[in-house]
Amino acid sequence: MKIIAITNNRGGVGKTFITLHLAWYGQSIGDKVFVIDADTDQANAVMWATGLKIKDPDSSKVYYGYDDLPIAWTMGEKVSVNEKYNGTIFVDGRPQIILSGQLFQADVVVIPIEGILSVVNAKAVIDTMKEYPEAKKMVIVMNKTQKQNKIFQSTYLMAKTLGCDLFPVKLPFNKQVYWSEKNGKPVWVSRAKGVKPFLRQFKRLYDFLMEY
Ligand SMILES: Nc1ncnc2c1ncn2[C@@H]1O[C@H](COP(=O)(O)OP(=O)(O)OP(=O)(O)O)[C@@H](O)[C@H]1O
Ligand SMILES: [Mg+2]
Repeated sequence: MKIIAITNNRGGVGKTFITLHLAWYGQSIGDKVFVIDADTDQANAVMWATGLKIKDPDSSKVYYGYDDLPIAWTMGEKVSVNEKYNGTIFVDGRPQIILSGQLFQADVVVIPIEGILSVVNAKAVIDTMKEYPEAKKMVIVMNKTQKQNKIFQSTYLMAKTLGCDLFPVKLPFNKQVYWSEKNGKPVWVSRAKGVKPFLRQFKRLYDFLMEY
């Protein structure tokens, strides 16, 4: 079992988006994956994965989303319940640094950042993790980057000073890849047209995390 937690106390940096796309990607290549939605306030991952508009999902239940993606809404208890699970568990964190199973049971902590401001939040996550002897592997992922522009460069340089691994995946903000509020369905990478570079980025990130 491998637990990959996606976290950053800054909201809107793409935690849920990255969690679901990584899990979906893993599933699409035949890997065994499970998603934990640890955002007890919003449950976005459960809603986006299933298309259900549920305010308070049943935390004792495993939901099955599009493409049968298994997903549970819990603060992380299920992670330990599933000790014998031989797949990869992706944990979607809430926009707070929560000292819970989601972070401290994780083998790898993925910290998405979006622009310069969120680098400060990334630092807070890293500092919190470092207080623990079993400090985990941490990777910063740059999300919503248009191209090799100045903001990307300065964000990258700042993030590099944090002293943890920086995986300069650029998940370009692409309007074709999104959760569609309109028809209530996720628009997955594979189903959208013209987003091959996007899919390549997720493949790179996924492969990197699996090897890590
Ligand atoms: N690379 C991307 N390309 C296109 N849309 C994106 C990308 N990353 C995130 N988004 C969109 O940006 C919005 C915010 O992303 P998301 O909800 O995943 O962030 P979050 O960190 O989980 O937020 P919260 O802290 O509220 O849980 C969502 O509508 C999501 O679909
Ligand atoms: Mg979220």
